[in-house]
Amino acid sequence: MEKLQAALDKARKSRSARHSSPEIDRVASKPAKMKTAGLDERWLALTPFEVQDKILIQHRIVTRSARKAATPFDILRTKTLLQMRQNGWKRLAITSPMPSSGKTTLACNLALGLGRQRDLRSMLFDFDLRDPSVHEFFEARPPYAISDVMNGSVAFHEQALRFGDNVAVSMAHHAEPDPTRILLAEETTEKLDSLQADYEPDVMIFDLPSVLVNDDSRAFLKNADCALIVVRADATRYGQFETCQREVAEHTNVLGVVLNAFRHDKRAVETA
Ligand SMILES: Nc1ncnc2c1ncn2[C@@H]1O[C@H](COP(=O)(O)OP(=O)(O)O)[C@@H](O)[C@H]1O
Ligand SMILES: [Mg+2]
Repeated sequence: MEKLQAALDKARKSRSARHSSPEIDRVASKPAKMKTAGLDERWLALTPFEVQDKILIQHRIVTRSARKAATPFDILRTKTLLQMRQNGWKRLAITSPMPSSGKTTLACNLALGLGRQRDLRSMLFDFDLRDPSVHEFFEARPPYAISDVMNGSVAFHEQALRFGDNVAVSMAHHAEPDPTRILLAEETTEKLDSLQADYEPDVMIFDLPSVLVNDDSRAFLKNADCALIVVRADATRYGQFETCQREVAEHTNVLGVVLNAFRHDKRAVETA
């Protein structure tokens, strides 16, 4: 009985110590263990998440398995990967002139398509911090915000979720009040460098905001090696695309342009 009481007292004391310094517990104890672990263990330590295929399809994410609908994304994945490898690039930004162009759809499809390459490790970050939506596409909710990782208050392995063995997804879970500050911050750059060193991803995909609506993408693009620009055939004007391409090229390498929602009918061609 005395032993039990002593154990309860000990547990209570350690719980109250944890509650009084949650940051110290999160940041000091777990990473200490993490540092000694190897690369495979670091990836395994990320919390896995599962999404039903029908939810993915509802959100037009079709690359989880090889099938006809995945082919255009798979071709894009392979071309992107080859070009990035040729140049020694690891970090790919996805942006567009205006919202609703298909950036997040493309980012998620690329991430899951890359995931089918068993020998590659990939990461997807939702940096569209004013209007994050990767968590909605996957119908998942991370325990912390991506901004908590970037400012160092939460360790990456506590925030990011793992799809399969080799795709880490760092989702935002609410809109940030001052995204430009986070996207421009030196601490964000340093954090991305340290994540790249710790997890050795072959590809880091950044789902970014649109270029023509605010300064957020411009603020972040210095962190990317290259960018894909998504234009939507039935919505993006040529002038918007030109301005966007010029702006992106000032900050990083334009890897290519993805023409989304192109239909082989006259109306779509006229409005493109
Ligand atoms: N090729 C397409 N055909 C039809 N709908 C699409 C296509 N690409 C994307 N969408 C839909 O358009 C909406 C906006 O796409 P999203 O990827 O969220 O754009 P963005 O990230 O650029 O704002 C989503 O509902 C998405 O499912
Ligand atoms: Mg989006």
